[in-house]
Amino acid sequence: MNVGIDAVAIHAGKLRLDLAETLAPALDEEPEKFTKGLGLHASSFPDVEEDIVTMGANAAHKLMERKGLTPDDIGRIDVATESAFDNAKPVSTYVAGCLEQVYGEDFHHANKGERKFACIAGTQSLDDAYNWIRAGRNRGRAALVIATDTALYARGDAGEATQGAGAVAMLIAEDPDLVEMSVEQGFGSADETDFLKPNQQFPSVDGQRSVQVYLARMREALEDYESVAEETHPDQFEYIPFHTPFPGMVRKAALLGYRHMIRNTEIEADLTAAIGEQPRPDGFDDESQYRDAVRDYMDALKETDAYAAWYDDTIEPTLDIARHVGNWYTGSVHVARASALRSAREAGIDMTGKSLLLGSYGSGAQAEIHVETVQEEWTEEIDALDIDEQLAARRDISFAEYEEIHDVHNHDKEIDIDAFTTPSEEFVRDGSGPMDERTYRYVE
Ligand code: CAA
Repeated sequence: MNVGIDAVAIHAGKLRLDLAETLAPALDEEPEKFTKGLGLHASSFPDVEEDIVTMGANAAHKLMERKGLTPDDIGRIDVATESAFDNAKPVSTYVAGCLEQVYGEDFHHANKGERKFACIAGTQSLDDAYNWIRAGRNRGRAALVIATDTALYARGDAGEATQGAGAVAMLIAEDPDLVEMSVEQGFGSADETDFLKPNQQFPSVDGQRSVQVYLARMREALEDYESVAEETHPDQFEYIPFHTPFPGMVRKAALLGYRHMIRNTEIEADLTAAIGEQPRPDGFDDESQYRDAVRDYMDALKETDAYAAWYDDTIEPTLDIARHVGNWYTGSVHVARASALRSAREAGIDMTGKSLLLGSYGSGAQAEIHVETVQEEWTEEIDALDIDEQLAARRDISFAEYEEIHDVHNHDKEIDIDAFTTPSEEFVRDGSGPMDERTYRYVE
C-alpha cells in the first residue's frame, strides 16, 4: 500500500524581524554572527491576533480548499506542537472548531490529538497517520497533520536569534500526490536534557550541548535506518531535508552524514590522495586520539570540491525558506522538504521517483530517519504553495515593536496593543471565553 503526503500548505507568521538590521544592533552582536554563523536573515513572528491555532487552522483551511475537501473527507486531526497553552484540551479541537465555522459541517467523527516530543512531534504525527491508514482503520478517509509553533525564547537567551512562528498542514492519504513514505525508519533516542520546558513557556536550553545531542541522535538514527534498509550513499538522495533550528546546525549535520555515507565507497577512495582515508576506531588505542583524527578529517573533507558540490546540490536548497523565517520547531523539517521541492521545480529538475532522506529531530531527545519517494503529481502540489507571496507580504517590525510583540505572546504578561496587519480571509484570535478558553473567528 502506497501511503504518504498528499498535499501541503504553509502559513507563516505575518510579522518579520530582520536579524542583521534590527536584532543584531539592539543586542550588540555582529550581524554576520546571525547571517553567516547561524545562516539566518529574518524571523517570522505572529501578529497580535495570531497564535498556534490560527496559523494551524489557516494552513489547514488553505489545504482543504485547494484539494476540494470537506470535514467528511478527514478522519483524523493531529496537531504537533511544543507551544500548547492548555494541558488537557488539545489544539486540534480548537483547529476543528475554526474549520467548522467555515464549512458548516462538523468533525465529530474525527479522532483528534496532540503530539509532544519537541520538534520531532510533526514527523511522529505523520508516522501515526501513516500507521492508521496502513492498518486499514481510516474508513477511506485521510488524516490532517498540522505542525504549528510559536518558537519564542526568553528575552536575552542565546536562542533569541533563532526564533520563528508558522504552521505546516499536511494531508496524509493512500496513493499520495506528493511523496510516499518508506516503511523503514531509523531512530536514535535517549533521555537528554538539552532543551526542555518544565511547565514554563520559554525553554531552558543548554545551547552548545543541544547541538552535540542533535548530531549524536541523528547519527544513531542513520545507523538504525541502515540496519533495516540498506547502506546509504550520498548520490542516492536528491535532497536531504533536516530539522532546521538554524541553517548552521544543518551544515554540521550534513558534514557528519556525508562522512558516514562515503565510508567504504568510491568517493572515499577518490578523496584518499587529497585528504587520506577516514580514521577508523580500531586504528587507535585511545578514544580521544581517534576523535581528534576524525575532527581533522572532517575539517579537510569540508574543503573538498566533492563535498562542496554535494552540499550545494543536496542540502543548500532545503534551507531557502528557513533562512527567512527562523525555527518553526515541529514544522521545520517539513518546511525544509517544501523548500527543496520548490527549488527543484525552479531548476526544472524532474523529481518523479527520486528519493529524499528526511532527518527529523526533537530535543529531549530523538532523531528519526526515513526515506520519501516523490510522486508523479508533485509539481501541482509545489506550484500551489504561496510561501513566496506570504513572505513578501510580511510587515517588518522595529526593535521596539518586537519587544511589544514578544510581550503580547508571553503567557505571563497582559498587554493590549493593536494588530500591525489587517486580517483578510483568515482565522484570528478574538479573545477568551468564560473558562479562559481561547476564542476565534473567521474574518471575511
Ligand atoms: N561572523 C561569522 N560567524 C560568526 C560570527 C561572525 N562575526 N560570530 C559568531 N559566528 C559563528 C560561530 O563561529 C558559530 O558557528 P560554528 O558553530 O559553525 O562555529 C555560530 O556563529 C554561532 O555562534 P555561537 O555558537 O557563539 O552562538 P551562541 O552560543 O550565541 O548561540 C546557539 C548558538 C547555542 C545554537 C543558540 O542559537 C541557541 O541556544 N539556540 C537554541 C537551541 C538550538 O537551536 N539548538 C540546536 C540543536 S537543538 C534542536 O535542533 C531543537 C530545536 O529546534 C531547538
